[in-house]
Amino acid sequence: MKNLNKAIIPVAGLGTRLFPATKAIPKELLPILDKPLIEYIVEEISLSGVKEVIFVTRSGKESIKNHFARDLKLENNLKKLGKKNIIEAFHNPLFKNIKFKYINQEKPLGLGHAISCAQHLVKDEDFFLVILPDEYIVSERKENDITSMVKSNLKDKLGRILVEKIPKKRSKNYGIIDFCKDKKSPNKFINLIQEKPNPSESKSNYRVVGRYILPIEIMNFLSNERPSANGEIELTSSINKLLLKSPRTIIAQTSESKIFDCGSKEGFLGANIFTAMQDKILKKQMNKLISPGGGIGRHKGLKIPR
Ligand code: UTP
Repeated sequence: MKNLNKAIIPVAGLGTRLFPATKAIPKELLPILDKPLIEYIVEEISLSGVKEVIFVTRSGKESIKNHFARDLKLENNLKKLGKKNIIEAFHNPLFKNIKFKYINQEKPLGLGHAISCAQHLVKDEDFFLVILPDEYIVSERKENDITSMVKSNLKDKLGRILVEKIPKKRSKNYGIIDFCKDKKSPNKFINLIQEKPNPSESKSNYRVVGRYILPIEIMNFLSNERPSANGEIELTSSINKLLLKSPRTIIAQTSESKIFDCGSKEGFLGANIFTAMQDKILKKQMNKLISPGGGIGRHKGLKIPR
């Protein structure tokens, strides 16, 4: 059995929830303060020791590759201008040992299809990670969720899906976990995943978070998967088929972190406000800016139109 080395990040979606902002700019490059969302995501993965990050992307999203590529012309220009310190921000030390690969999903045929596009790049692995980059996860502990998932997989060689407890009334927006009924086992094995059930039908109040450790067999199920009613190849459907054939092979791991769905307006805004509030100086400035009658400089007392 091999260590878990590779992570697939599907970024080929259309990002319609944030239109028009994401018409020409990939949502993954929208900033949380001064750093694009995708950098936080790759930082999160890098802490687990993953060595290869595979982006499944599409035409129109080349700027993601450009963001991680070196731009010597720009670096030279900055050097000439005496702005050497800015260049440091381009070389994230956490990415030093990570190899980046890019493949295209020709048509937006769904998340399951996007993952299967990377099949040839992970075929020799026992397990691989799937990371959905719209979920921004802020860990309040030393070891983040991914790292503890990878460590546990190394020990027991079982798949894992990160889950978060939510109020049942919100089940309609998420994949919901139906647990195996086994009170003796310390593991929370997944029986199946319900796709966006009504609260009255939802089997639990645990939702899927976009962090998965999947066994390589999932690729066989994805290759044979038929499009669902909305025309997409669904990852959830293939996971359910795999669990039917091989029960008790995927564990639900409960997140210990704060999670923002940056694919939605409120999540994206929340991530920015939360991150700003972690910085002492910004927090002070923000409180001044948004307090009633507040504002700084020439905007002091600015009335925000409603
Ligand atoms: P979403 O369902 O969030 O879709 O995809 P989206 O296109 O990103 O955003 P909205 O809903 O239109 O606003 C979940 C993940 O799957 C990827 C997306 O890039 C995202 O990371 N995806 C989705 C693909 O790579 N290809 C697809 O065909 C669909």
